[in-house]
Amino acid sequence: MSELVSTGVPGLDSILSGGITKQSTVLVSGNPGTGKSIFGIQYLYTGVTDNDQRGVYVSFEEDEADIRAAAESVGLDRFDELVDAGDIVILDKRQMLRETDFSTAVDKLLDTLKGESFDRLVLDSLSMFQLFFEDEQEKRTYLLKFSDILKDNGLTSLLINEQAAVFPDTEVGLENFLTDGNVYFIQTPTDSGVNRYVWVAKMRKQDIDTDIFPMDIGQGGITVHDRAGGFSMMSRSDEPSF
Ligand SMILES: Nc1ncnc2c1ncn2[C@@H]1O[C@H](COP(=O)(O)OP(=O)(O)O)[C@@H](O)[C@H]1O
Ligand SMILES: [Mg+2]
Repeated sequence: MSELVSTGVPGLDSILSGGITKQSTVLVSGNPGTGKSIFGIQYLYTGVTDNDQRGVYVSFEEDEADIRAAAESVGLDRFDELVDAGDIVILDKRQMLRETDFSTAVDKLLDTLKGESFDRLVLDSLSMFQLFFEDEQEKRTYLLKFSDILKDNGLTSLLINEQAAVFPDTEVGLENFLTDGNVYFIQTPTDSGVNRYVWVAKMRKQDIDTDIFPMDIGQGGITVHDRAGGFSMMSRSDEPSF
């Protein structure tokens, strides 16, 4: 049986039959504000605090200060300390976007990985990362190369995908096939705020529960709940429609 890596999100590992397969890459998709970055931060944070696994957060979206602030907003109080100690290394947008081509940006990452032992990586986001490429062919080649780099370095990775629709009208992107797993975060508006859900659509080699589960964001980050009160996505008119 393959070794599993905990997501660090209460309630999520059990949906995944224990966690993410070691050295796999998981695509994390959802609209802005659904909790993708918080998931990434929580994954790296609990990696260190609960599993003694170091991680790298590559962000094309935010500065290091924003990432530290996001961790603080959900009460991951030791985040600064872990970054300062080098257990979580942040390559932020100022560093990554300074490079104008893919190879130099990847060299930056390889420099960080060289001679050090990291177990986890978060790329935030794949959508921004793709701006390096001019056409579909080039994007495909480099995405493959990039997944190989992650695996060759023994990393279990979350690739974040800014996505407008759970079921897009357009062609399903290549990234969906290249990755080993596919997790969606969904939010629907309510009178008082939003309802949040998580859906694990695919996880290679894992017997997963493909239902949609309610979740919330609060102190400690994301918590996934059991289907409270007979929750079902389809059966009631006041449930979300996608
Ligand atoms: N302490 C908190 N309690 C509840 N919700 C929070 C808290 N901190 C952040 N959020 C929510 O988390 C969401 C932002 O999540 P984020 O991971 O940045 O989204 P994404 O990366 O998908 O755009 C926002 O909708 C915000 O309301
Ligand atoms: Mg984000």
